[in-house]
Amino acid sequence: MNRGKVGIIGAGFVGASTAYTLAMLGIAREIVLYDIIADVAIGKAIDIGQATNFSSKSTVVNYAIEPKNMVGCDIVVVTAGVPRKDGMSRSDLLMINAKIVKEITNNINRYSPEAIIICVSNPLDVMTYLMHHISGLGRDRVIGMAGALDGARMAHYIAQKSSVNSSKVDAMVLGEHGDNMTPYIKGSSISGIPISQFIGASDIEDIIEDTQKGGATIVQHLGTSAYYAPARAISAMVEAILDDSKMIISSSVVLDGEYGYKDTTLGVPVILGKNGVEEIIELDLDSDTKAKLDKSVSSIQENIEILKSNGIFG
Ligand code: APR
Repeated sequence: MNRGKVGIIGAGFVGASTAYTLAMLGIAREIVLYDIIADVAIGKAIDIGQATNFSSKSTVVNYAIEPKNMVGCDIVVVTAGVPRKDGMSRSDLLMINAKIVKEITNNINRYSPEAIIICVSNPLDVMTYLMHHISGLGRDRVIGMAGALDGARMAHYIAQKSSVNSSKVDAMVLGEHGDNMTPYIKGSSISGIPISQFIGASDIEDIIEDTQKGGATIVQHLGTSAYYAPARAISAMVEAILDDSKMIISSSVVLDGEYGYKDTTLGVPVILGKNGVEEIIELDLDSDTKAKLDKSVSSIQENIEILKSNGIFG
């Protein structure tokens, strides 16, 4: 396995959990944490570095005090951003995170120009689109992490209803990472066997709804968004790229005619390997699923327009 150097920008809940997961599984040779609050990156890098004493493979965990100290990464994972606060509209949040993501993208270009970028900051599809445009990188090298997480959530609910081990469930979620996400039952199976063989129609409806509410359910309990499953989903993508394992993982990518859409990001199944997105898989969708994807694209486009009208691409 080719264990590379992974930069993580934003050492909050998701960023630090990702570093921990990568280090415990020995996926990366080196991890560098950066956060706008330097002490957060320093403290967590030291803590995770000390945990590696018990790992089977060695991982060096470093921190970067300034963006220029994060150099030569094979992959950079971007989890930086601010959560929505009281009185803040969605477009306020959109603009705040867009400015953060824009600055970060320029720094990645400067200091790790060879890197493949995995975007995690929300709103995910819009931030991935922004990073693609600001970076000037090919769409194969700017990948939004969404379907890996939403699929893992769907697998969890399928496993609960079928009493089958979650690791044997292949669950596929398409579309926007948000209200319009589309759990795709026809693309999901348990050890290759159709879900409908194990689960009745009304339970399947529940699985779809629970998956769509997956993130919100955790916020209700914790008062903040999830981080363990996001971290595992990110690390699975990192592993697929570093290991060139050609895994099929739904990801948010820029489309150029696939599924009938152009100049937009959307969550679709892709093959991940050493070059990033090596192939976008076009499924033959029924009209109901296509209509749901149309809604996703409209919603993503609406937010992209807000960024355009505020001059963020300039
Ligand atoms: N550069 C680097 N780090 C930054 C910047 C910046 N410009 N701005 C903010 N950060 C850091 C914060 O200091 C914080 O440590 O990003 C981190 C975000 O961490 P959390 O607030 O703990 O948020 P988290 O739960 O990790 O979510 C991060 O992932 O799933 C998405 O919606 C989520 O967009 C959010 C992101």
